[in-house]
This record gives sequence, C-alpha cells and structure tokens, in this order.
Amino acid sequence: MPNKVLGSFVKKLQRKKVRNKKHRLAVFASGAGSNAKKIIEYFGKSNAVEVALIVCNKPDAGALVIAEISNIPYILIDKERFFRGDHYLDELKKEEIDFIILAGFLWKLPSELIKAYPNKIINIHPALLPKYGGKGMYGQFVHETVIKAEEKESGITIHFVDELYDHGKHILQVTCPVLPGDTPQILAKRIHQLEYEYYPKVIEEVIKNESVSAENDR
Ligand code: GRF
Repeated sequence: MPNKVLGSFVKKLQRKKVRNKKHRLAVFASGAGSNAKKIIEYFGKSNAVEVALIVCNKPDAGALVIAEISNIPYILIDKERFFRGDHYLDELKKEEIDFIILAGFLWKLPSELIKAYPNKIINIHPALLPKYGGKGMYGQFVHETVIKAEEKESGITIHFVDELYDHGKHILQVTCPVLPGDTPQILAKRIHQLEYEYYPKVIEEVIKNESVSAENDR
C-alpha cells in the first residue's frame, strides 16, 4: 500500500477509535445532588456519554452520597488548591474528562479551568437570567427574591460558563408560572422538575453538536 494511502487509512482508524470512546463528564455538585442523580441516571443508559467523576467542595453534601451509591469516583476539593494551586486540572486530565457540568456548585471557577475547557463547561441556574443571578443568588434566595418581586414567571437557564457568575452564553431557557400563594419551597419544586426534564437532554445535545463540529474540523 503506498504510504499516503496507508497514512489516511491509519488516520481513519484513529478517528473511529476516538469516536468510539464515551464522552466523560465531571459533575461538580456541592448540594443535595438531585440534578447530579438525574444526570447519572440519564447517561447510565447511554453508550456515548458517561459520568466519570463527581467534584464537590462540601464533605456533608448529598452529592457525595449519590456518588458512592452510584459507584462513581469523587474528589472532595480543597479551596486553596482549587483557586491557587493546580485547580485539580491534573485529576481532570487523568480521568480524561471532556466536559464539566455544574449542578449546584457555588464557587466561581478559576479562569485556568475555564480556559482548559472552552465551551465545555455548562451550568444550570434556577431562574431566568440575566435576572436573579450573580454572587449570593442561589437556592432558596433566588426563589424568595423572585416571589418578593411579584414575578409572574420564573424558570431555568442552562448556559455555558465564563469567568463571571451566571453570565455565559445561554443554551436554553424554559419558563414556568409563579402562582399566587407560592412559597420559595413550592417554586423550587416546580423549577427542579424543569431541571430534571431538560438538563440531561441539553447536555447530550451540546456534546453531540460539539462532536460534529470537532469531526468537521479534522
Ligand atoms: C439547582 O436548583 C440548580 O439550578 C442550581 O443548584 C441547585 C442544585 O440542586 N445550580 P440539587 O443539589 O441538584 O438538588
């Protein structure tokens, strides 16, 4: 076989090998972990994507219990090392992580981490950004503020992560009503249902699109 033909044959084989490998997600979750659980369940049936790692900054987080039950390795991260050390990039590389999924992770990511995963870090926020986002706007505080402002609608925003809180390019927003008599807990429940329904599917879609454009760039 001439060298050129052999070379392109080997390249094709290499591409096939890359495509056959599952995309590996690190889910960063430091809360109850209910979204992490839904994402793990959803991709448990996938032959293209897997949750390979849970990253957490709270030793008592429900997300860690979920990682243990699901038999997924986890890292309990240290603030100093995350922000001023190596940002755990070595661990992420070692685990061959392709995408980072934030699901209730409250620390702002260090810019080195964002640069290492361009357009590959996704967050979900329990309100319609750009309203009700930013530092300190998480969990019940978001829903309390939405209700106090007498909003008729709230919802979810799924977006890429950049160096500002709740700021990157939006991927999808889905709305739900805020009803008379809603408490932050009731609204949180309605919003969680939207998160469970849409977040795993959107992650899957982003990964699919990214793989197609990566394939086209070869
Ligand atoms: C979710 O409401 C999500 O929008 C926000 O943090 C919350 C995490 O909830 N980023 P859980 O830990 O997944 O139950």
